[in-house]
Amino acid sequence: MKNVVILISGRGSNMQAIVKARLPNTRIAAVISNRPKAAGLAWAAARGIPTLTVDHNAFDSREAFEDKLAEAIDHFDADLLVLAGFMRILTPSFTQRYEGRAMNIHPSLLPAFTGIHTHQRVLATGCKIAGCTVHFVTAELDHGPIVAQGVVPVADEDTSDSLAARILAVEHRLYPAAIRWFIEGRLSIIGGKVLLSNAHSIDDSSFIVPTAEL
Ligand code: GRF
Repeated sequence: MKNVVILISGRGSNMQAIVKARLPNTRIAAVISNRPKAAGLAWAAARGIPTLTVDHNAFDSREAFEDKLAEAIDHFDADLLVLAGFMRILTPSFTQRYEGRAMNIHPSLLPAFTGIHTHQRVLATGCKIAGCTVHFVTAELDHGPIVAQGVVPVADEDTSDSLAARILAVEHRLYPAAIRWFIEGRLSIIGGKVLLSNAHSIDDSSFIVPTAEL
């Protein structure tokens, strides 16, 4: 069994998708939020998953917050740290501590559109496709070796809400798959790139979602 600790800040729909996937050899050891009111906390607690809040507002510095957060993560003996809508910027010393064993999901096709307001920026740019990326966490925000990507079309009539919803549905498929590969020991980072061993086809680490499937 591998221990997965999930960090959230809000509703936690990705966290829910990961829990519901019931991945083999995987224990969701804890769900930790930096916001006490994160809706995802109650959802996880109702399913018997240990939950914890490390409220960033209760600390004088980013370092003090991260020390407490790391203590909580390490208490649950995390093999993999999963950032799922976790809205705090992490310092290099924190990201180094979990290097190669922390993942994040970002709702764009990285390296395009790092940061926030991704969907608005995709629409304003007139992109014809959009998507999401699971990547290993490094010191640079929304960078780090790419594990998997999912692609959706952008429609002329899209709003940022409709685009976000289309991408979120793909996130919910992509993230459990990426975590599963990690648990199976199939991911290696070589020269800044992630290699997936025993992949059956080129489609294994990307999802191209045709319009008909939406
Ligand atoms: C997702 O779109 C994720 O890609 C981004 O934040 C959102 C979190 O949603 N990092 P949820 O809390 O998982 O529902």
